[in-house]
Amino acid sequence: MIQLTPRLAAIANEIEKGETMADIGTDHGFLPVALWEQGVCPKVILADVNQGPLDRAKSNGAESHPGVEFDCRLGDGLKVIEPGEVDVIVIAGMGGTLMTEILGEDIEKTWSYKKLVLQPRKDIGELRHWIYNNCMSISNEKLVREGRYIWPILTVVPIEKACLGDLGPERIEWEYPRRLLDFLNPLTEEYLGMKLKLEEEILENMEKGEQTGPAMQNQKNRVRYIKELIRDVKKALDSTSAEG
Ligand SMILES: C[S@@+](CC[C@H](N)C(=O)[O-])C[C@H]1O[C@@H](n2cnc3c(N)ncnc32)[C@H](O)[C@@H]1O
Repeated sequence: MIQLTPRLAAIANEIEKGETMADIGTDHGFLPVALWEQGVCPKVILADVNQGPLDRAKSNGAESHPGVEFDCRLGDGLKVIEPGEVDVIVIAGMGGTLMTEILGEDIEKTWSYKKLVLQPRKDIGELRHWIYNNCMSISNEKLVREGRYIWPILTVVPIEKACLGDLGPERIEWEYPRRLLDFLNPLTEEYLGMKLKLEEEILENMEKGEQTGPAMQNQKNRVRYIKELIRDVKKALDSTSAEG
């Protein structure tokens, strides 16, 4: 079993069981291999722009799990990952400016992932400025000590695609924006819980009426969206109470 360092373990903790991930600039590859072997991520991608580090990742993976072929990709930033191909993109151990270049290369692609976990070595101001100027928001932020250093870890989510202005008013993102996470209130969880109940009732009635097709799919998406939002609200509330 791979023992993650405190920094890599803190990054791993930002990833939920069942989420898929790509580690950009993986180098040793310990993070994705550990997430896979712990059963957290059913699919992991190990990517690096340099052959040497990628070979290192490959051989570390093979050493820990002989016979398992990890998905190792050679290339620059997100160029080797398809839009929406994984839930989570991790970029760790690089400068914040380089991260903005990687993420800014194709902003629509960057928005297609559920979340990004970023651990900049430097230039955090530039990175944070970029995040907020590119329709993204920080849903969690923590500091972790490793050796002599204290590293920040940012979990970043695309602010609803409403920012793109291409979504109609029927979209659920207008009703329950992820921005609610930035303005947590003691009533947020209860409010969303009530809305979820209503949406689930609508879905139940559709199922009873044996409705199928796009309307049914849309309703399922609404329920899933609110559940995910509630999960993130709970996580944010837990981390606030842990701090307090
Ligand atoms: C210091 S290591 C970090 C390794 C690991 N992510 C960690 O946090 O422990 C940085 C890695 O990023 C890779 N890298 C640098 N620029 C990159 C880019 N544009 N795309 C992908 N990988 C990159 C380097 O080759 C190197 O392996």
